[in-house]
Amino acid sequence: MQRSLINDILNQGTAGQTVQIGGWLRTRRDSRGGFSFLEISDGSCIHTLQVVVDASLENYENEILKLKTGAALIVEGTLKNSEGKGQRLEMQAGSVMQTGVSSDEFPIQKKRHSFEHLRTMQHLRPRTNTIAAVLRVRSKLSHAIHSFFQQRSFHYIQTPIITASDCEGAGHLFQVTTLPPGSQRQPDADFFGLPTYLTVSGQLEGEACALALGQIYTFGPTFRAENSNTSRHLAEFWMVEPEVAFARLDQNAALAEDFLKAVTSSLLASCADDLAFFNQRIDSGVLERLHNLVEQPFERITYSEAVQILELADIRFEFPVKWGSDLQSEHERYLCETHFGGPVIVTDYPKEIKSFYMRLNDDDKTVAAMDVLAPGIGEIIGGSEREERLDVLSSRMQASGLDPEEYSWYLDLRRYGSAPHSGFGLGLDRFVQYITGMENIRDVSAFPRTPRHARVHSAVPGDQLRS
Ligand code: 4AD
Repeated sequence: MQRSLINDILNQGTAGQTVQIGGWLRTRRDSRGGFSFLEISDGSCIHTLQVVVDASLENYENEILKLKTGAALIVEGTLKNSEGKGQRLEMQAGSVMQTGVSSDEFPIQKKRHSFEHLRTMQHLRPRTNTIAAVLRVRSKLSHAIHSFFQQRSFHYIQTPIITASDCEGAGHLFQVTTLPPGSQRQPDADFFGLPTYLTVSGQLEGEACALALGQIYTFGPTFRAENSNTSRHLAEFWMVEPEVAFARLDQNAALAEDFLKAVTSSLLASCADDLAFFNQRIDSGVLERLHNLVEQPFERITYSEAVQILELADIRFEFPVKWGSDLQSEHERYLCETHFGGPVIVTDYPKEIKSFYMRLNDDDKTVAAMDVLAPGIGEIIGGSEREERLDVLSSRMQASGLDPEEYSWYLDLRRYGSAPHSGFGLGLDRFVQYITGMENIRDVSAFPRTPRHARVHSAVPGDQLRS
């Protein structure tokens, strides 16, 4: 018999139907009346299925009465209308087969564990309601992202993970080498014959493809060796990066807004049960925030206007506000949470605090950059119009301490058929935080990598987080 998913059973099943499920035991309750209730989860949705097992089953005494939380089961039976509240259907078991026993030591018992504690067992925490719901939302979100771009005729490009150029020019790179630890040998003895790194962004290669295919997006893992122990930074995270030829900054901002609205609206439909769970258990503002994001137009202000607003703010910030300094998370959150009460796109930042590839504005002081700030998180998107003028780009590189020789291929894109073009990057993990209301980015990635944490199973729960 073909196995059914609990999600399909609860949505489409009818009383009298015979079905088989495979899942893991959450709880067992034995009734004095000679039967037991098994609560089974198969991960297909936030709900469990209640299975009623009669003492007449041949393995009732020897096996069913000894089943422990965490055991893996294949259960066949008949659906019937449920008398208990909460669920329409339950199952009357015809057979229960245990494929994997569990024991009293199974670390994820029914009681609630702190997220910090669960981080020490990343291999088992997908069995919890919250982490499983996060992973389902990530999956649906990834699908919605591909759909958004595919429907608009963007081409999906797989950019390299191993690269020889530092896209952001910020130096937070993980080196890739096959030389033995402590080797004194020169980089030309290394695998690629030069120093190579894990990519911090697929943008530069994305630009090369956009300047041929018109509109492209990349969607893959990126790596940053920033020693940022915050609740919003991972050393390995996923980024979506669209790039559009002939697009200016305002079109880029419009694309970012359409994109966030479309994928959020798709999730509200495809993950309704999981989002209701987050709203009930994690953050009671989740659904309202998501509906606002879809319905309200985003505010757009320049960096200079943002600084004016912050200077007039009736609040003492930890970091001083000064034209020329980067906005800190507390400033970003003040703007979108307190001042505007919704997402804000901040544009035209001082050139000194932004990457070399951003287009220099006519004032010679600012660049055509844009950050999308969202309540509860701060920056979720960073993007810009790219510098398409060869001479300006070369001198911006030099001013940033980069060697134009090393980026000669990137400069070629300005030598041969240069065009205005723009793009942005959305951090997938940060966006999942925004959608679910999860406080720590370590709990929205299945196997998060952060400074000093690369193990799946660790004895050390704690991280001293900075804000
Ligand atoms: O603003 P960033 O650094 O922009 C870029 O990498 C550009 N190359 C994007 C582009 O224009 N194509 O990063 C983009 C987004 C941030 O807004 C944030 O959401 C996320 O990536 N991000 C991180 N997410 C988790 N952990 C980190 N350490 C992150 N650093 C950036």
